[in-house]
Amino acid sequence: MGVDVAVTNLTKQFGKQLIWKGVSLTLPAGEISVMLGPSGTGKSVFLKALIGLIKPDEGSIVIEGTDIASCSEKELYEVRKLFGVLFQDGAMFGSMDLYDNVAFPLREHTKKSESEIRQIVMDKMELVGLAGAENKLPGEISGGMRKRAGLARALVLDPEILLIDEPDSGLDPVRTAYINQLFIDLNAQIDATFLIVTHDINSTRTVPDNIGLLYHKHLAMFGPREMLLSSTEPVVAQFLNAQRVGPIGMSEEKDADELAAEANLEMPPLPPIPPQLEPSDGRPRRGQRPPGEWLQQNGITPPPGSFESNMSLAPGANG
Ligand SMILES: Nc1ncnc2c1ncn2[C@@H]1O[C@H](COP(=O)(O)OP(=O)(O)OP(=O)(O)O)[C@@H](O)[C@H]1O
Ligand SMILES: [Mg+2]
Repeated sequence: MGVDVAVTNLTKQFGKQLIWKGVSLTLPAGEISVMLGPSGTGKSVFLKALIGLIKPDEGSIVIEGTDIASCSEKELYEVRKLFGVLFQDGAMFGSMDLYDNVAFPLREHTKKSESEIRQIVMDKMELVGLAGAENKLPGEISGGMRKRAGLARALVLDPEILLIDEPDSGLDPVRTAYINQLFIDLNAQIDATFLIVTHDINSTRTVPDNIGLLYHKHLAMFGPREMLLSSTEPVVAQFLNAQRVGPIGMSEEKDADELAAEANLEMPPLPPIPPQLEPSDGRPRRGQRPPGEWLQQNGITPPPGSFESNMSLAPGANG
């Protein structure tokens, strides 16, 4: 289960505004990848391109032999069935209660009976911690609950590919920790290919198998978690360690004066690499690798204190 998503040389422009250019990466089947980037770098546009809601100007997105960027509407309709999507704004129907919102894809895309639908909806609601809230309207619940309802809806069709846009924006730290554990557990359970867009550095450091960073209209880097967390490439190190020193400024790129002013400032040393969250039932995931494996294979010494299990504050990390 779970399928590769192979993106090659993707370019998107809106009118004269170039969003990104030459983006190439493969989301490995069954693994969790996170996409980062300053606001406005086109992360949401990238997700929308992956499901064919936005047509790229150049490049290909190949899923099970079909190129989303150039296929027919009919083929696109078929490929879309592989996806579950949680949009950034939740995209709930305001006049439907949560039950009907979550049931919607099942009624739209399957011939399941109402009692089968009920079973699935209640299951997914329970999974995201919303049991009992079925009859609430989206307008009556908190932003965090809406996100979780959106996630339940993204799961009902048993997706092979799950795209999740900022699941943690507007969530409190405890709920963020729970949702991170939920992603790990879900991934172990359904074995789908995950792509999560987030601004949360703690989540980025502890959840994914792979990390990508969009910056300055390019994919600055994409690769295994340990590769990015040990990278001293200035943009990557600055972003993944939430630093002010580095090439990224308040309005994306610093100008020459700003960079000259900090020419003598050294980038702070890389912090220890935290252990990756593991499934709560101890069952390993497909994308899970032994801590330090990538670093060892590439002859890189991890920052002191890396992989010590008392570093992570997330629930479940310490058993
Ligand atoms: N349908 C559209 N038509 C024209 N421009 C668009 C469209 N969708 C997005 N854009 C532009 O593309 C750029 C990237 O937008 P996008 O929403 O992907 O950013 P983002 O990286 O997701 O930002 P954030 O972190 O704030 O969510 C923005 O400048 C936005 O205005
Ligand atoms: Mg966005």
